[in-house]
Amino acid sequence: MRLPVHNFNAGPTVLPKAVLQKVQAELMDYLGTGMSIMEMSHRSTVFDDLMVKVDGDLRRLLEIPQNYKTLFLQGGASLQFSMVPMNLLPLDGSADYIVNGVWGEKAVKEAQKVGSVHLVASTKRQNFDRVPERDLMSFDSHAGYVHFTSNETIQGVQWPMEPDVPAEIPLICDMSSDILSRPIDVSKYGLIYAGAQKNAGPAGVTMVIIREDLLGSVPNDLATMLDYRLQAEKKSLINTPPSFAIYVLGLVLGWLLDLGGLPAISRLNQQKAILLYDVIDTSEGFYRGHAQSDSRSLMNVTFRLETTELEESFAKEALAQGMVGLKGHRSVGGLRASIYNACPLESVETLATFMKDFQGKYA
Ligand SMILES: Cc1ncc(COP(=O)(O)O)c(C=O)c1O
Repeated sequence: MRLPVHNFNAGPTVLPKAVLQKVQAELMDYLGTGMSIMEMSHRSTVFDDLMVKVDGDLRRLLEIPQNYKTLFLQGGASLQFSMVPMNLLPLDGSADYIVNGVWGEKAVKEAQKVGSVHLVASTKRQNFDRVPERDLMSFDSHAGYVHFTSNETIQGVQWPMEPDVPAEIPLICDMSSDILSRPIDVSKYGLIYAGAQKNAGPAGVTMVIIREDLLGSVPNDLATMLDYRLQAEKKSLINTPPSFAIYVLGLVLGWLLDLGGLPAISRLNQQKAILLYDVIDTSEGFYRGHAQSDSRSLMNVTFRLETTELEESFAKEALAQGMVGLKGHRSVGGLRASIYNACPLESVETLATFMKDFQGKYA
């Protein structure tokens, strides 16, 4: 029996119960093969069929146009910080980066090792409490691409919609912590990447969605595994893929489709986030949200209390009531409730009630 926990971890994090049950049911015998999916060749027809299904379901959910390839890679989103510039940063040019949090900063650092980077805007001076205003962003019309992070997991800062960038520059997004949480228009993007371990499955597989024409500018001398064009040609099967992680990702995609797809999960995600932001906003300053209200994340709700001692008591007392993962990231402190797709409404309601009770006790 699982302990009844409410899981607010930032990732890896809670998976849908129905998915875990299916994994358990199929663990000893996947589709009558007498083997677990983990024990099977990635060159088998059974695994081929699985890859086709996962690709198809991802395409259905995100309404990915025909002229995009999907890749299922290893190395996490962190490897994409390097692969994106290696593949797409022109040797004689530069790339534009918009930075509104720690992950965007890391992406810049890796890109600078590969080539020239132009910082379009950063909200570091505002302690990354918002996304930059459109008027403060100046794009280089010759940039190879513009990179941004749709949801900054540590700061809890999310773009309400994609930034308005010049149409001719490919838009590239690190969507690690909000992919599949709401409908998006994929045709606005040149490339999207995301580790699965927050909204889409277990750690170990990274989704990359890339517009086909961009594959034409990939340099010829890249290491095989780091080359988007080769990965696309070989359908992510140059070497052994993270087969178990891809399998679980597939189950999560199926769960999302059964639920009604991205419009349905998006409504639920808004409902959950509003519950917590309402408690913060009506707390008369007892809880102080980190993000400005127009940049608030629906995935990671970040907030502070008057003192670090009080924050520690909050995390400790919440833990005693079965709520795990509420401490903020070690780099910024404070508190953070990660409420991704699979975090049930009931968990968020429990946390909202706890927050009100905690305020009643300590205010
Ligand atoms: C927005 C964002 N980008 C990148 C990463 C790094 O992901 P990975 O651990 O898969 O390399 C994270 C991890 O938390 C993240 O939240």
